Amino acid sequence: MAALEQLPKAELHLHIEGTLEPELALELAQRNGVALPYASLEELKGKYQFTNLQSFLDLYYELMGTLKTAQDFRDLALAYFAKVSTQGVRHAEIFFDPQVHVANGLDVNMVMDGLLEGMHIAKERYGITSGLILSIVRDMPLETAQSVIDSVKNRASDILGIGLDSAEVGYPPHLFTKQFQEAKALGWHRVAHAGEEGPASYVIDALDNLHAERIDHGIHSVTDPELLKRLASERIPLTTCPLSNRRLQVVGSLDELPLRNMMDQGVLINVNSDDPAYFGGYIADNYKALSEIGFTLSELASFAEHSIDASFIGDDQRRTLR
Ligand code: ADE
Ligand code: ZN
Repeated sequence: MAALEQLPKAELHLHIEGTLEPELALELAQRNGVALPYASLEELKGKYQFTNLQSFLDLYYELMGTLKTAQDFRDLALAYFAKVSTQGVRHAEIFFDPQVHVANGLDVNMVMDGLLEGMHIAKERYGITSGLILSIVRDMPLETAQSVIDSVKNRASDILGIGLDSAEVGYPPHLFTKQFQEAKALGWHRVAHAGEEGPASYVIDALDNLHAERIDHGIHSVTDPELLKRLASERIPLTTCPLSNRRLQVVGSLDELPLRNMMDQGVLINVNSDDPAYFGGYIADNYKALSEIGFTLSELASFAEHSIDASFIGDDQRRTLR
């Protein structure tokens, strides 16, 4: 485990709201006067059995309602960085879901200020650099996505990229073409969740219509050999999340993940935690889980190197991270 923790790595698929541990959610609920329908920590912890993506999202969005102040967001970010500071993370590109916070009555600028403060402190305290990815919640009304983009355009340089997450099936990427075009014009990078529960055709859609530079999850790409060739030749990385895929029953067991198959075909794979407070482990636990199913240290080291290569940092900084 120590060797895996020491591999220098970037975390590229991490929902900051997915780092909200149940203990902190209850503490915030009390501090902020938010009523949750759980009488105890044990009762809440009993809810972490998921049958699919939606069953997880229901709890994830409910607990997000406990986050209310800039300090909550700063503390949430700092708790994440404290954990991964001992797991080899040198750089993190972090999703947040502003539409949900706005629906909860918060100001998106306040949310960003809290997160950015936590990220700034993490750089000073742990030397970890980071950037924010504004993620569109694909099953909320499209106008709410447009409205958060409109609210933060005047501070575009505080945002590294745009993403696309939440319930996938029925919400194909091309529905968001306009928002991704606008994001490109604002200088933001573009990534999208695709091929997690949805089919390989959604991955193609994200490449063709959103010009996604990375695909989040993307594991159903394995069903389309032509797509695998394209991902390899266009050097589009997949930000995979093994423990997430198992806990959301995208696969029955980790052995079924097509990572080696895709890697052998030249697809650039990196390993991430997605929503570590919900899926039983932070980034090093995901590496450890792969080592337990037979991935060698040198294969795992290549995933870590690929994570740094797939990040959006400049080449100068990239050299210092390895
Ligand atoms: N939001 C948080 N985690 C997610 C996941 N694994 N897939 C889609 N949306 C998400
Ligand atoms: Zn995700």
